[in-house]
Amino acid sequence: MRFPFYAQAVLGLPTRRAAYVLLSGCLSLGALPVAAQAPTSIPEPIVEYPAPARPTDFLTPAFHKQRRELLRAQLPPHSVAVVFAAPVRNRANDVDFVYHQNPDFHYLTGYEEPDAVLLLFAEPRTVGGRPDVTEALFTQPRNPAREQWTGRRLGAAGAKNQLAVQYAADDTDFAASGLKWADFDKVLFDNLPTDTRDDARNPADLHNLVATFRQQASVPADYNPAVSEWEAGIRRFGLTRSKGFAEYLTSQIKENPALGNSPLIRDYVAATTDAARKAAIDAHPPGRLDDATLGEKLDGLRAVKTPEELALLRRAVRISAQAQREVLKLMRPDMGEMEVQGLHEYVYRRYGAEFQGYPSIVGGGANGCILHYETNDRQRLDNDLVLMDCGAEYHGYSADVTRTAPPSGTFSPAQRQIYELVLAAQEAGFAACKPGAPFDAPNKATQEVVAAGLQKLGIIKKKEDFRKYYPHGASHYLGLDVHDRGSYGPLQAGNVITVEPGIYIPAGSPCDPKWWNIGVRIEDDALITATGYENLSAEAPRTVADIEKLMAEPSALENFKLPELK
Ligand code: GLY
Ligand code: MN
Ligand code: MN
Repeated sequence: MRFPFYAQAVLGLPTRRAAYVLLSGCLSLGALPVAAQAPTSIPEPIVEYPAPARPTDFLTPAFHKQRRELLRAQLPPHSVAVVFAAPVRNRANDVDFVYHQNPDFHYLTGYEEPDAVLLLFAEPRTVGGRPDVTEALFTQPRNPAREQWTGRRLGAAGAKNQLAVQYAADDTDFAASGLKWADFDKVLFDNLPTDTRDDARNPADLHNLVATFRQQASVPADYNPAVSEWEAGIRRFGLTRSKGFAEYLTSQIKENPALGNSPLIRDYVAATTDAARKAAIDAHPPGRLDDATLGEKLDGLRAVKTPEELALLRRAVRISAQAQREVLKLMRPDMGEMEVQGLHEYVYRRYGAEFQGYPSIVGGGANGCILHYETNDRQRLDNDLVLMDCGAEYHGYSADVTRTAPPSGTFSPAQRQIYELVLAAQEAGFAACKPGAPFDAPNKATQEVVAAGLQKLGIIKKKEDFRKYYPHGASHYLGLDVHDRGSYGPLQAGNVITVEPGIYIPAGSPCDPKWWNIGVRIEDDALITATGYENLSAEAPRTVADIEKLMAEPSALENFKLPELK
């Protein structure tokens, strides 16, 4: 297994970065200064540093345990489900990106640290000499020296006690767990990290766990997740939507020729009739290693929110709506996109939201026509419409709320016409939010309104051309991921989806220049209920009249003035 970092220093093998720290004496972030101090080989006693009070509204161990049990009950006989924590990602040199747990791992455990793996067994197994184990969590070990620099760790005992996991052990014990992998008929996994760096000087956190799993479960060296994702797609959708599916797959093989090496993919795209496609699918059944089924089960579970999840998601959405309100009151033509972004994110933190669910999108005029614009560096908004697609992440749950408004507080006639068309489309989308409706129903409803409206305004000649100005779908699931897991089958009570039509008319578009550089999206987060829907982001105004009224009100941050830096 990997040498602890201080051991490398003791053995006289400091990394390039550690050497730099030793020479410079700087307080570098992360692991390196621990090496610089080269502690003795006597293990340090574990001293507990009690944490000051934290929020108390996290999901409970009972919630996570119930999720594990629901998933376990759906596993095929004689199978194991394997879920890895998210890898640590390096930002530059010795600075990593802020760690964010794999949402599946969070959902199933509540464990927030890297370098861990969860195993769920369809039937009880013997692990680490202990019989009758149904769930096993291997976590990064306690390490006092590291914890002083990078934070508290739960360790195996903490995971067992605080997360109520039946069996927990250090990840260094994973290779010698004694688990008989050959006894499993199916090994289920999803999104297996395939890029965990194996650098003897500085191995990626997850490298050893993934390497051990690959070796013990006999994952082939040339395992390619893109290939198996397409193979799973063929088995799932390859006969119901065969023509479009085969055409799209053929175009993908041109971009990623490795796909063509799969016998199933090759035979499927070569087939010209559904009978031949079915024969191809039957000839290549899934193997023992299965990276499709686990994802499908998690799609089903995560798409229907429990009351505990809804409490957190509602809070994320309400925080985001309050941020939109405050920014609408404060926005002025002399502000820049970045300041507007900062105001949203400041409000999030004031309410205790730890992150943004995705990079905040604040685009004025032409920038608002770029769907996932995130540079946010226009310096003056002037009076171009500003599209603000921003969502707080609260205890893991992400909102996704967009408002579009003129910095002066008053829409121009052209801005208003496009805005009101998008709003009408959104209302049609909401009206289609009903349990039992196809997932695509709200999208289709918005498309019809946008197409008819653009034609009426003379922006397009034929209705079919609406896609040029409305190129995305209206809905996705929302939850632990902003584009959350879900089956994309009929809507169900407990789903939370976005309703987000938009119209984007970049300069140079083939229409009257008065429309140019208008980009409008209105995005709300809808809970599907037993009878229809509830708009969770309704606190942020949507109509022109309500937005203009709110923008005329003073903001709580009105006097938040900082000195000029000359
Ligand atoms: N904010 C990304 C999206 O609306 O889907
Ligand atoms: Mn969205
Ligand atoms: Mn959005």
